[in-house]
Formats: sequence, structure tokens, C-alpha cells
Amino acid sequence: MHKAVCGYEQTPIIFGGNNMLVNATEMLIKARDGHYGVPQFNINNLEWTKAVLTACEEMKSPVILGVSEGAGKYMTGFKTVAAMVDAMVDSMGITVPVALHLDHGTYEGCKACVEAGFSSIMFDGSHYSIEENVEKTKELVALAHSKGMSIEAEVGSIGGVEDGVVGNGEIADPAECAKITDLGIDFLAAGIGNIHGVYPANWKGLDFEALDRIHKATNNIPLVLHGGTGIPDDMIAKAISLGVSKININTECQLVFAEATRKYIEEGKDQQGKGFDPRKLLAPGAKAIEAKCKEKIELFGCAGKG
Ligand code: 13P
Repeated sequence: MHKAVCGYEQTPIIFGGNNMLVNATEMLIKARDGHYGVPQFNINNLEWTKAVLTACEEMKSPVILGVSEGAGKYMTGFKTVAAMVDAMVDSMGITVPVALHLDHGTYEGCKACVEAGFSSIMFDGSHYSIEENVEKTKELVALAHSKGMSIEAEVGSIGGVEDGVVGNGEIADPAECAKITDLGIDFLAAGIGNIHGVYPANWKGLDFEALDRIHKATNNIPLVLHGGTGIPDDMIAKAISLGVSKININTECQLVFAEATRKYIEEGKDQQGKGFDPRKLLAPGAKAIEAKCKEKIELFGCAGKG
């Protein structure tokens, strides 16, 4: 089993019938102590998952597969996703540690993923008052830990483009971050001016002073950088040096997938021979995701860490 191969000390835990997954705690503690970042690549379908796993295995990198509630629904539900990922890790002979993580989960979504066999959850209570965020996070920490799962929580919402209006992303309050961290969560997403999607030209950049204050207030907990798409390489390096251990990438993989697929069709390749076969049609996009993942693994310094 890959846990033995990869040398992780984690006791194997069966997540809802699945046995090929690990939670994300150990990989993130190692990343924090080793000063590198573990990628969370979000997945959308089978081809996506296969491409990410292929890249991570080739680079010998640990990986967190992120699944948003929307993507989970698209794939017919969290149970399907958990069964697919577990079977793929097995069938592909993956030896690096793989965590299956709910991204920006609601309270109900978190509970559903615990049942479905995920190995990690994120509860995003950032839109609640801090009191309500604390109350719900606390309950979910107990539930996740009782199943051997890891849990991420969020303070200070991550911005993004909403109906064409660009939000710059909130800066989390270090005191609130400390309150949430003290609940026993395993890693913390704290807003430092990062946003989901492509950054606008007038983006002010990450607020490293805020990151430093948050890091100092949160007892060296592994920090999570959401909105990894388009953050310049030097900012990624600096964020890692200030306590970021997990970096989330979603949009960038979507963009390269779309670009490669468009090129294939524009070149008329779908009309040559059996080029319309989905295995051929989706191959350039999958290869593009693979290449993007490898590029990020190099950048985050986690090649060979799995
Ligand atoms: P991007 O889509 O900007 O890469 O952000 C991904 C993310 O943070 C998922 O939670």
C-alpha cells in the first residue's frame, strides 16, 4: 500500500470504505518544517484526476485533490468522487500520498464528505460572524478528528470576480485567526488579499505584513494560500517562507485545458480519422493539465517529497 512505500508514519485509516487515501495533516507538517508547499489541485472529472495523479506520481510529490461542492455535484456526488479517486490511486499504482479534500465546504457539505469517504474537509465559515464560525468549526473539528480526517478552516473571505465586480479579498484579523486555530484545526486559510480566478491588472498583491502577523498569532499552524492562479513566483516563495504550506490551484488548470482543447479543434484534428474519439479529443487538455501541475510542483519545491 502506498503509505508504506512513501514512508509516511500515518496509521492507515479507512475513510468510509476507502483505504488508499491519507489525511493532509502529516504532509503539511512536513511541508511547513521543510519550507515547501504542497499543491491542492482541484479536480473536475476523471481525465482531470488522472492527469493530476500522473503528474504528482512522476514528480514524486504529495498532493491534495480539491473538490468544490459544485464539482462534487457535477460528478454526481461526493460518494462517486471518493470511490473514483480511491480506485484510481489503486489502479494507477500511485505511491505518493494523496488526500481527498472538500474545498470551501458548507456545514452540510462537510458532513456529507465525512460520510462519503473523503480524507479531509475544509469548512468555510468565513461569511458567518466569528462566533458562529467558531461554533460550527468546533463541531466539525470533533467530527473530522473522530474519523481520522484533517480539517481546514477559513477566516477573512477570499475575494474574486463576482458579476463582473472585482473584490480585492479581505485581510484576516490575526486575533480571529488565533481563535479558530485554537479549536484544533489542522491548517488555516486566512485572507491576505488573495482572490480566486485571474488577478486583475490593478491587483495590489499579497499582504505579507498581514501574513506575518497571522503566522505569529497562530502557533506555527500550516497556512493555506487560496487563489494560487497567477500569483507571481517570487510572491509564492515569500509566502512559503512566511508559513504557507498549501497552495490551491484551480483556474490555471482550467485555462490550459480549454486552450489545448480549443487548439485541437481549431486545427481540425477532431475531423481527421477518429479524432472525435473523446479519448483523443480530451488528450491535449489532459496533457496540458499534467504539464501545469509539474510546473507548480517545481515552483512549490515539493518534487521528491512524496
Ligand atoms: P484559483 O482558481 O484562483 O487557482 O484558486 C483555487 C482555490 O483557491 C480553490 O480553493
